[in-house]
Amino acid sequence: MNLVLKVWRQPNAAAEGRFVEYEARDIPKEASFLEMLDIVNEDLARRGEEPIAFDHDCREGICGMCGVMINGVAHGPEAATTTCQLHMRSFNDGDTIVVEPWRARALPVIKDLVVDRSAFDRIIAAGGFITAPTGSAPEANAVRIPKGDVDLAMDAAQCIGCAACVAACPNASAMLFVAAKVSHLGLLPQGQPERHRRALAMVAQHDAEGFGACTNHGECEAVCPKGISLDFIARLNRDLIRASFGFVRKARAHEGAA
Ligand code: SF4
Ligand code: FES
Repeated sequence: MNLVLKVWRQPNAAAEGRFVEYEARDIPKEASFLEMLDIVNEDLARRGEEPIAFDHDCREGICGMCGVMINGVAHGPEAATTTCQLHMRSFNDGDTIVVEPWRARALPVIKDLVVDRSAFDRIIAAGGFITAPTGSAPEANAVRIPKGDVDLAMDAAQCIGCAACVAACPNASAMLFVAAKVSHLGLLPQGQPERHRRALAMVAQHDAEGFGACTNHGECEAVCPKGISLDFIARLNRDLIRASFGFVRKARAHEGAA
């Protein structure tokens, strides 16, 4: 296949970026999107030009490192597919493909297609953990958990932190990510002690990082490569309401005691 790429090039965070046009020649249909970029980069390196910087690691759809806007859609045209798992057979010979980084104030561009997603790490550090002593692996049936809860927790745990949800959201909200992380712990017995504190702390960090609020557009769910459901945001909101009532109750009890 022969394609025309319009790729966002930006030397560093402070510099202005712009689209640069490249020809991608003799690309096999079975190549992945990242392999196509590898081929273009080899060609650029041969010509002594700066290769296009892009993020990746596993190339198996599990690490969440990859992710670019492809023709305006986070992770490209295939549903439930990361950029690394997207293949060139999804495009036609002669296509023009526009490739851009995630666009969000809280995910600043570092170089070309690479953005700084450390805001996600800080949200996790704010509450995405349990403090229950886990020790060695317990006997499988020692802690009984209803099958429905296990299934839901596993669905939430599929979030790979790729940030496509933020890139697709008109508010640049990361609430689908936060909801997945809060829910996969909050649905299990080990996650109960910090359940409401966790929801408050992670949402507070989300807001402090400059992500926007969720106003139910649903664009996040549409592009999420792991099919994380909007229902988890509803679950998160319920936890937040319960947590707020808990704080009001405690404050009133404190006032009464004073
Ligand atoms: S919710 Fe989906 S789109 Fe958002 S970070 Fe997790 S896997 Fe990526
Ligand atoms: S490179 Fe790991 S999910 Fe794409």
